[in-house]
Amino acid sequence: MTPPSLPPDCGKRILALADQLAAFTETPGELTCTYLSPAHRRVAAEIMALMKDAGLTTEIDAVGNVVGRYKSPAAGGKILIVGSHYDTVRNAGKYDGRLGILTGLLAAEALVRQRHPLPYDLELIAFSEEEGVRFSSPYIGSLTVAGCFDPATLERQDANGSSVADAIRGAGFDPGAIPRIARAKEQLLGYLEVHIEQGPVLLNEGLPAGIVSSIAGNVRFAVTVEGEAGHAGTVPMGARHDALAAAAEIVLFVERRCTQPGLVGTVGRLDVPNSAINVIPRRCEFTLDVRSGDDAVRDAAVADIAAEMERIAKRRGVSIKTKELLRAPAVPCSPRLQDTLAAACTRAEITPRYLPSGAGHDAVMFDGLTEVAMLFVRCGNGGVSHSPRETITADDAGIAARVLLDVLLNLKP
Ligand code: HGY
Ligand code: MN
Ligand code: MN
Repeated sequence: MTPPSLPPDCGKRILALADQLAAFTETPGELTCTYLSPAHRRVAAEIMALMKDAGLTTEIDAVGNVVGRYKSPAAGGKILIVGSHYDTVRNAGKYDGRLGILTGLLAAEALVRQRHPLPYDLELIAFSEEEGVRFSSPYIGSLTVAGCFDPATLERQDANGSSVADAIRGAGFDPGAIPRIARAKEQLLGYLEVHIEQGPVLLNEGLPAGIVSSIAGNVRFAVTVEGEAGHAGTVPMGARHDALAAAAEIVLFVERRCTQPGLVGTVGRLDVPNSAINVIPRRCEFTLDVRSGDDAVRDAAVADIAAEMERIAKRRGVSIKTKELLRAPAVPCSPRLQDTLAAACTRAEITPRYLPSGAGHDAVMFDGLTEVAMLFVRCGNGGVSHSPRETITADDAGIAARVLLDVLLNLKP
């Protein structure tokens, strides 16, 4: 029986589908699709329709994950999850997350259309919330499927004071059904994710795809600095307790402390609530994101930043409170699945190139539950991502879909 294959123009179709999904946005002229917004709900409906058209049995679960299943004729087959996320950052690119859903869709469609049974159940999952933009609570989609969702997350609020639970109920789902989403460890054969590299390595080396060896660990905090408001014209400089100036010192310390190989630190958002040009800032809120492929390196940096915050608070007479938002360990990818990916790359005449991921991915949430692996796809424009300048080629999208299909056909349960 000739194995299923993908048409020569499958890459073009992937890009066209990414354009189709990108049409639904919260900000006209840019792509912003945050958790359970109206645009986000429209994208979920589109993905569900695409999965149905591809011949998959579909459902949307209680947190908005869209699931497409291709059952194996072998009774009691294990489940291989192929997935990625459909939410985006603000003013995003079109391929972060969605490329993994669309390559999975075309590979699954080829199996269904060409009636090729698999020895395991295939679940294509479009995760609803990975970026954590609206509620500062990343990975809700994959955490619930992996059975690691913390119900306290339901109380997290967005900028308008709506909670995660309000948004879930507002979308017509039942937060009480969340525990039933979890897949049991013994059910799972593995987890596979195709994702854009979001960096320049494959571009610089002229490679269309690469195999992820490990995924960086990531801790995130919300930090609040409280000082004292005052008149910008009358309070002498030495008598101030300026929350923003204290925050600025911390931001520059984070940059200095994290400038070492294999470590990054970012203050991605900083707000000065109720600020005015002629008032000394009383309060400043910012986020902190520290990552490394080595958890000990990351944790040492976090400890140094915390100690420096104490020193700054004392010297400036301000208070500094931190709230941990995420602690994801560095994850080594499965050697067995990496080998399967490497064999598929070789058959596609691509030299297997192993590289670590600095970005976090839904794959991280399945570590410890099942074997995880990722295939990276080359990014253009210097590898930029989390930007409308994010770009990939149709050829590379097609190569990724073919490598994925090859893995699905050759993976032994
Ligand atoms: O932040 C990340 O690494 C991913 O884009 N959520
Ligand atoms: Mn992202
Ligand atoms: Mn992503």
